Amino acid sequence: MADERPFINFHRPCIGDEEIEEVVACIRSGWLTTGSRARRFEEDFKNYIGAKFAVAMNSCTAALHLALEAIGLQAGDLVLVPTMTFGATAEVVRYFDAIPVFVDSNPDDFCMDMGHAAQILEKIASGSEIKGLKTKSARRVKAIIPVHFGGRPADIVNCKKLCRNFDLRLIEDCAHVCPAYYRREDGTNAMAGSEADIACYSFYANKTITTGEGGMATTDNEAWADRMRVMSLHGISKDAWKRFTRSGSWFYEIVAPGYKYNITDIAASIGIHQLRKADIFFQERRRIAALYDSIFGKEEDIAIVSERAGTSSSCHLYCIRVPAKIRNTLIEDLKERAIGTSVHYVPLHMHPYYRERYGFSEGDFPVSEKLYSESVSLPIYPGLGDSEIEYIAGNVISCVKKLLAKGCGA
Ligand SMILES: Cc1ncc(COP(=O)(O)O)c(C=O)c1O
Repeated sequence: MADERPFINFHRPCIGDEEIEEVVACIRSGWLTTGSRARRFEEDFKNYIGAKFAVAMNSCTAALHLALEAIGLQAGDLVLVPTMTFGATAEVVRYFDAIPVFVDSNPDDFCMDMGHAAQILEKIASGSEIKGLKTKSARRVKAIIPVHFGGRPADIVNCKKLCRNFDLRLIEDCAHVCPAYYRREDGTNAMAGSEADIACYSFYANKTITTGEGGMATTDNEAWADRMRVMSLHGISKDAWKRFTRSGSWFYEIVAPGYKYNITDIAASIGIHQLRKADIFFQERRRIAALYDSIFGKEEDIAIVSERAGTSSSCHLYCIRVPAKIRNTLIEDLKERAIGTSVHYVPLHMHPYYRERYGFSEGDFPVSEKLYSESVSLPIYPGLGDSEIEYIAGNVISCVKKLLAKGCGA
């Protein structure tokens, strides 16, 4: 029976008066597209991450695309990508007619299994066959794109060792981590993305900070930053956005067939203020996750996903694991009780495009498949009230108990 209470959305942005006033000021200023607010957002962002350069774009997908372009990815090159991720992480590799080489997940944190990545790299180096890789000629592994799954930092320490041993570029998919932290090999703390060759962040509506749609690439390499900036606005040589300003010039030159990936000042207006709240949002998401953990931790049939030692997750997602046979019905039952949920993710190798193109089938990445079949993502965001959290958790527990007692799906 449908509950009378208002639906608890799976995600809800936390936008304050500051963002609204800045957007209004931006509109009133008459400058709507890329301009001074986009530049301010980039400045603030690079300082926050501790990078030398930041290039704002209209999505993380665009940032990932231009990161691969900047490092010189070529058709036929190989790029290691987790199968347990959103489509964007691998589709950008396909834009170049390069080949995503999928890697399985760690069972505990859903992130890329660096041991599996090492095995794959050794096989490729020795010329052995790996599934999904038919062309013997395609042997240059150019990059690795770990994803900080749900906000839990991937194992960057071991990933960097792979990059050194196999001469790979490290492009971090930081869509879920603004911010998150991990411990470096020397014991000091690092912010996720700060050690990447290029790190790519998302400000999509459900992310830890949002601009509605938006993204950012950060790097310490000036040449890559320049290339990404040029390619993000039609391949126009220099300061393309300034050509309509008093200090700009009407003359410009196109140096490459670029893309239309620039962020608008309207979006940057939101981003400037969201970034200022990133640390508060971080604490609040972690508080909610801890509250969920304390409730679900007592339940035998619900597994919580813990942080790796030395890491602090952004808690972008809160995933629980339940017996696979009840997962789908649980999601339907929670919807009936006015609770929005999601599943992260259908592993990429199970999607028709990748199955058909590379010959993948079920069983190829067993850990990711198991995680996928058991996981449910629950609402987690600043502004989610304690009574809502208790309502969600109470209903998850009672539905799981009821479904298992019924032997649902067995
Ligand atoms: C892991 C991951 N990478 C990349 C993206 C793409 O982000 P955007 O929507 O900003 O392009 C997403 C978006 O959800 C994501 O979850």
